[in-house]
Amino acid sequence: MQTLKQILNQQISATLGSVAGVENPSAHVLTASRPEFGDYQANGVMAIAKQQKRNPREIATALVAELESQNNPLIAKLEVAGPGFINITLRDDALLGLGNAALGDSSALLPSIDQPQTIVVDYSSPNLAKEMHVGHLRGTIIGDCLTRVMEACGHKIIRQNHVGDWGTQFGMLITYMQELEGEQDALSSELANLETFYRAAKERFDSDAEFAQRARNSVVKLQSGDPEHLKAWERFIDESLRHCEDVYQKLGILLTRDDLDAESRYNDELPGIIEQLKAKNLLSESEGAQCVFLPEFVGKEGDPLPVIVQKSDGGYLYSTTDLAAIQLRADKFKAQRSLYVVDARQSLHFQQVFAVAKAADMAGPELSLEHIAYGTMMGSDGRPFKTRSGDTVKLSDLLDESVKRAFDLVSEKNPDLDEQERQAIAEKVGIAAVKYADLSKNRTSDYIFDWSTMLSFEGNTAPYLMYAYARIKSILRKADIDTSADDLQITTLSEDAERQLLLKVLQLPEIVLAVAEECFPNQLCNYLYELSGLFMRFYETCPILKAEPEVKQSRLALASLSASALQQGLDLLGIQTLERM
Ligand code: ARG
Repeated sequence: MQTLKQILNQQISATLGSVAGVENPSAHVLTASRPEFGDYQANGVMAIAKQQKRNPREIATALVAELESQNNPLIAKLEVAGPGFINITLRDDALLGLGNAALGDSSALLPSIDQPQTIVVDYSSPNLAKEMHVGHLRGTIIGDCLTRVMEACGHKIIRQNHVGDWGTQFGMLITYMQELEGEQDALSSELANLETFYRAAKERFDSDAEFAQRARNSVVKLQSGDPEHLKAWERFIDESLRHCEDVYQKLGILLTRDDLDAESRYNDELPGIIEQLKAKNLLSESEGAQCVFLPEFVGKEGDPLPVIVQKSDGGYLYSTTDLAAIQLRADKFKAQRSLYVVDARQSLHFQQVFAVAKAADMAGPELSLEHIAYGTMMGSDGRPFKTRSGDTVKLSDLLDESVKRAFDLVSEKNPDLDEQERQAIAEKVGIAAVKYADLSKNRTSDYIFDWSTMLSFEGNTAPYLMYAYARIKSILRKADIDTSADDLQITTLSEDAERQLLLKVLQLPEIVLAVAEECFPNQLCNYLYELSGLFMRFYETCPILKAEPEVKQSRLALASLSASALQQGLDLLGIQTLERM
């Protein structure tokens, strides 16, 4: 549906235009920051008053008078506040109408957009030489959530998993594979744990000069397309992808093999990228390497900072591949946005690559290139999360541990449930806890990973939200009503807790739209946490099952609608709900 904010903005902006005599002004409607300010606030008068050097209260008063004369079906009350803000209170019957429409059609709680875009979301993107570790958690979860949110808005999403599958490490790995090839079982079992496989290969590489030489030769062979080497490399990549897919499956991530955008895909394009840069006169040689110098990139001393696109030995770099990828996203995918959900520590890389791509016209002005940066996941010691012995933690182990901890917790709370059911609950809660703990933090900050808070049933956590949902479901079961029945309607908002709850539910599409635009999933988490809090207040202050029949029906309908909003919101975060907990 069109969001309340959009409708208000349109209508009030139009009236503001005629009252103040300006074209296309923005009424700048925001959700009210406090209930005593009404439901929404329009702050756009200030800017116009400043422009016209007029008293903002005067314009605001005229605007309110004009709006009042229109008998807007949505607006109950308007009030000029402070220097020239307008507080807006919506009509209860309008809220009821929208709420009842959404009861029959849960897609009404999602925004609809006029102009769907094609949006590339580059996320997860691990290096395939090793197994996925905790460093890949954030990008994988945040990226996946953004694709769900944008898809729900109606955009066309192209997921791209830009895995690292090329480069010198693979020479070492396939040489080690070839050594083990004689002993078939040894190879399969060693590949079962890529982490130890990588370590063993690296140990051979570092300690045996002859092995190291073979490894270097094999890189050359691989890059020149030798079939034997290609075959070994493909086997390794396939094995490594299987490990990723295990993790994706555990985490409920939507990426499939069709979404692969491996670095090797661009091998043949790279010489052409250098040629294009040359043709645009952007290339200069520095210490044998091909570089692009752009005026906006300077070092600490003001010295020019190069973007290296080809090494002196002819090899290409991460940035060269990214330029080729940008070209594909621009020319072939015709995307309007290309998002890179990647660690904040790569931000200089992206600034440079984006700037070179724009300077070389590889991406026109119609393509917005955006680094969706995220901070680091820290251990309780305030340093990047590691095992006690200082090793990186495999993502798959972390997820298993979370499910195990959730199982212990559920068993403690619900010892009577049979083991299978406790396990099923634990699998959902354990995964949800890890995802939600991450999504609920502002992505640009570092955060401390803490088992006890993320698995707590209190506070802004997945278990709390999932429990709130299950609680509503249990009320609906007790009432034994058909929640899909046409005659189930919300008919009364006499209690403040009812009104606040319904208004909040109707604001879901606004939040979803904001997340699609600004790419901060924590906005949706905060919303769901507030929604659950409002539901709990409603539940405590408004008797449901014991109310008079008509009020009871209305409150059950409101409870059911709240459950839909909660479920939709959690679904967009990639979190599954449970009917019972
Ligand atoms: N594979 C890279 C890494 O592990 C991340 C790739 C991100 N995407 C991109 N188009 N550069 O750091």
